[in-house]
Amino acid sequence: MTINSAEHLATDAFPSGFLWGTATASYQIEGGVDEGGRGESIWDRFAHTPGRILNDDTGDVAADHYHRYREDVALMGELGLNAYRFSIAWPRLQPGGSGPLSGDGLGFYERLVEELLGAGIRPWVTLYHWDLPQALEDAGGWPIRDTALRFADYAVAIHERLADRVADWTTLNEPWCSAFLGYASGHHAPGRTEPAASIAAVHHLLLGHGMAVAAMRSARPEQRYGITLNLYPVTTVSDDADDLDAARRVDGLSNRLFLDPVLRGQYPDDMRDDLEPIAGSEFIANGDAESIAAPIDFLGVNYYSRHVVRAARADLRSDSARHEPAWVGANDVEKLDTGKPKTRMGWEIDATGLYDVLRRLTDEYDAPPLYVTENGAAFVDEVTSDGEVHDPDRVAYIDAHFRAAKQAIDDGVDLRGYFVWTLIDNFEWSWGFDRRFGVVHVDFATQRRTIKDSGRWLAGVAAANGVK
Ligand code: FCB
Repeated sequence: MTINSAEHLATDAFPSGFLWGTATASYQIEGGVDEGGRGESIWDRFAHTPGRILNDDTGDVAADHYHRYREDVALMGELGLNAYRFSIAWPRLQPGGSGPLSGDGLGFYERLVEELLGAGIRPWVTLYHWDLPQALEDAGGWPIRDTALRFADYAVAIHERLADRVADWTTLNEPWCSAFLGYASGHHAPGRTEPAASIAAVHHLLLGHGMAVAAMRSARPEQRYGITLNLYPVTTVSDDADDLDAARRVDGLSNRLFLDPVLRGQYPDDMRDDLEPIAGSEFIANGDAESIAAPIDFLGVNYYSRHVVRAARADLRSDSARHEPAWVGANDVEKLDTGKPKTRMGWEIDATGLYDVLRRLTDEYDAPPLYVTENGAAFVDEVTSDGEVHDPDRVAYIDAHFRAAKQAIDDGVDLRGYFVWTLIDNFEWSWGFDRRFGVVHVDFATQRRTIKDSGRWLAGVAAANGVK
C-alpha cells in the first residue's frame, strides 16, 4: 500500500525544519553581576538608582541563570525545543567596553553553548540586548559615533571565539527601545531624556549593526547574520488628514526608521523632514547608509501589539499622560485604547497584527527570511495547591499568534522559526519582577522552576510541528 504522506500531515503543520524556541536576555535572567570580572552595565547603574524600577528591584540575582544554566537548558530539552535565543552580556566580555575578551566571561558562554549543542538545541545569539558597558555610556553612549565602532569590535571578537559552534548571529535587539526608551523617554537605562540624542542613538545603533555584520561576514561568509526589530502595525480611526498624519509619523518612528535604512539603504524622506529640525543630521557621515544596509540573511521580528493612534484632540492636548514621550516629534499623537482584552502589561491582544507585520515585510520590503524572535504575554501567575501553574490566558495568547503566523506562511511569508518570550520568569526591565512572561515559573525566593501549563502546551506544539 502506498501511503500518501500528505494525508498524514496535519493541515496546520509548519514547514519542516521550523525552529521552535524561547528567547531570553542576559540582564533579565543571569544575575551574577559581580562574578567572573563582569563590568558594570547601564542596567546595573539604572536599576540601582532609587525610583527607576518598580519596587526598586534589580537584576543582581535575577533568575540566577549564571549558576543554573544547566538546569535551564535541561528544561528546554524537556520541552523538546530545538532552538534557543539568548543574549551575550557585553560587560562580561569587555568589562570596560573595549580591549581583550575576559576569559571568565567567554568561558560562561562557551559552557552555555556546549550545553545547548549537547541537548540538540541550536544557539541563536543576540550580541546586544541593552546592557551597554557603563564605561561606554560615561564616554557618551549611543549618541556618539565611537560606541558604534566599539560595538563592531566587540562583535568581531566574540564571533571569532564562538563561530565554530554558533552559526546564527543577531546584532541588536530592538534598537527602537535602546534609542527612544533609553535616551528620549528615559524609561530604560541610561534614563536620559534628550530627544535629539535619541535620534543620533538610532543612527549609531544601526551603524554599529551594519559594521558588525560586514566584519563578521568577511570572517565567516557561510554564517547567518541579522537584526531583531520590534515592529507594530499602526492604524488610525478616520480618514481625517490629521489622523492619517499621526499614523504616518508613528509608523515612521516605530517601523520605517529602522526597516528602510537596513533593507533599502536610506532613511525615509518624511522621517528626515520630521527629525532634522529636532536633531540635525551632522552625525550622519558619507558612506553610513551603505554600511547600515550591509546585506542580512534574516530579519528577527518581535511582536506584541498594535498601535492605534489619532491626532490629539484639542480637549486632550493638555493631558500629557496620554502622550508618549518616546515618540520624538510625535509626542502629541494619542495612543488609543480600543477596548480589546489586554495582557498584564496593558498591551492590547491583537494576533492579526502579527499577520499584518509579516505580510508587510514580505509585500513591501521583499524582506529576507523572517523569524519571530519574540512574542508572548505577561499574566498574573501563581503556583496553585496542586503544585502547578495554570495559565490558560497565556496559552490562548500564544496559540492565536501561532495561528496568525501559520496563516502568513500559507499566504506566502517565508517564516522559519518562532521564539516565545520567554523561557523563565525574569527581571522585566522597569517592571522588575512584577511582570511574568515565562512558560516556566520562577519562585524568586528559592529559584525553584515550575513548568507552567503553557510550557507543556508549547512542548506539544513543538513535537507536532504545529498547532492542533
Ligand atoms: C521586549 C524586550 C524583552 C522583553 C519583552 C517583554 O521589548 O526585547 O526583553 O522585555 O519586550
